[in-house]
Amino acid sequence: MDKFVIDGPTRLQGDVATSGAKNAALPCLAAALLTEEPVAFSNLPDVRDVRTLQKLLRHIGASVEASKTTATVETRTIGSADAPYDLVKTMRASVLVLGPLLARAGSVRVSLPGGCAIGVRPINLHLAAFRKMGAEVELEHGYVEARASRLSGAEIAFDTVTVTGTENAMLAATLARGTTRILNAAREPEVVDLAVLLRAMGAWISGEGTETILIEGVERLHAATHAIVPDRIEAGTYAIAAALTRGDVAVTGCRPEHLKALTARLSAVGASVESSQDALRVRASGPLAAHDVETAPYPGFPTDLQAQWMALATSLEGISTITETVFENRFQHVAELVRMGARIRLEGRWAVAEGPAPLTGAAVMASDLRASAALVLAGLAARGETVVDRVYHLDRGYAQMEQKLNGLGARIRRASAPTGIHSIPGYVRETP
Ligand code: EPU
Repeated sequence: MDKFVIDGPTRLQGDVATSGAKNAALPCLAAALLTEEPVAFSNLPDVRDVRTLQKLLRHIGASVEASKTTATVETRTIGSADAPYDLVKTMRASVLVLGPLLARAGSVRVSLPGGCAIGVRPINLHLAAFRKMGAEVELEHGYVEARASRLSGAEIAFDTVTVTGTENAMLAATLARGTTRILNAAREPEVVDLAVLLRAMGAWISGEGTETILIEGVERLHAATHAIVPDRIEAGTYAIAAALTRGDVAVTGCRPEHLKALTARLSAVGASVESSQDALRVRASGPLAAHDVETAPYPGFPTDLQAQWMALATSLEGISTITETVFENRFQHVAELVRMGARIRLEGRWAVAEGPAPLTGAAVMASDLRASAALVLAGLAARGETVVDRVYHLDRGYAQMEQKLNGLGARIRRASAPTGIHSIPGYVRETP
């Protein structure tokens, strides 16, 4: 099991390229199960979650020819319409095969994901959507079993905005009989990217990116090619890193229009932000002002950047509050940041950071993907050596993070962690 040894402080400078979005790649790869024809992907991020989903697709019967950033998925027949516990426990996004398998094979058995490091994360809304479309859904022995001879279009009104729930409903509805209307749909760019792919495969979809998505079911879908949208969370992580280290970084190959909630707040703290159509330059020097953020579904401030923002908040002048409204337990980075010298107080879903608090290097433990990114950022700003343990969390969702940061002047070394309890397989519950 690897760890990062970071020698700080660093002022990041230069250009860094954005990879494809993990959270778009996962539903898009699952969409390939909807047709017997090949679907070819480019701009996939070279991250472990993508490889895990490809493994699941192979288990189901797909042939997957993959390089680091491309893959062609062809599912002539469904061999095994299931997602076993071993795969779902390492990546809860495996539940994204529920919709496509139910639509294509008429029955599916998927292990229920348990809670994880950031919250309980039930999938009740996914299951309610399938029931609305006429599926019989049962929960037994830790598995979801769903059946439907052919799904019927339905009106699905989500009580809470759910990203993968919206995606699962979209995937199922493409082959259903009749019209599906998804209300209170997630508006995330990853949902839009899935709609773009499904349309290229012959689906009838409109309204993606708004609260109401309309899908007219078709008899069959066909071959397509698709380039995955750039990862706004990766780009945002490097933009925050630039401000935190008072650096000057151009994040290239991204979509600044997907990052407006972040860039508005970076400007508010006093960083200089310049955006073009596909790049973002963030520069900062000297003191930056405290600023409050509250996470919300897109287009609000992303929960997936909350931990990284918290690292930045430690360097801001004054009191910043950070309110987490999406997940109930996404503050596990706080105790680790405090070990590095941060002054952060937690009150329920509310964190209060008092700055500037000069950080010093320490041994810290990553608990989930974005918390790990926050600790790496803090390590870049901290004086001395920071050792971030359990970087396998980072490898799930950030492509070549240490190479990208070292290209900006960081000094990060990947080292093998000593064996011990953290190397016991299954010891840690993983997140996204
Ligand atoms: N929720 C329910 N019932 C459901 C589904 C969701 O109560 O059936 C609740 C959740 O517990 C949460 C809220 O609704 O409180 C929103 O959860 P959502 O379903 O939107 O999250 P998700 O689809 O499981 C995706 C991303 C997460 C990201 C969230 C929010 C993927 C694969 N994962 O998760 O990404 O944080 O949306 O934007 O797309 C990450 O990349 O680090 C990560 C955790």
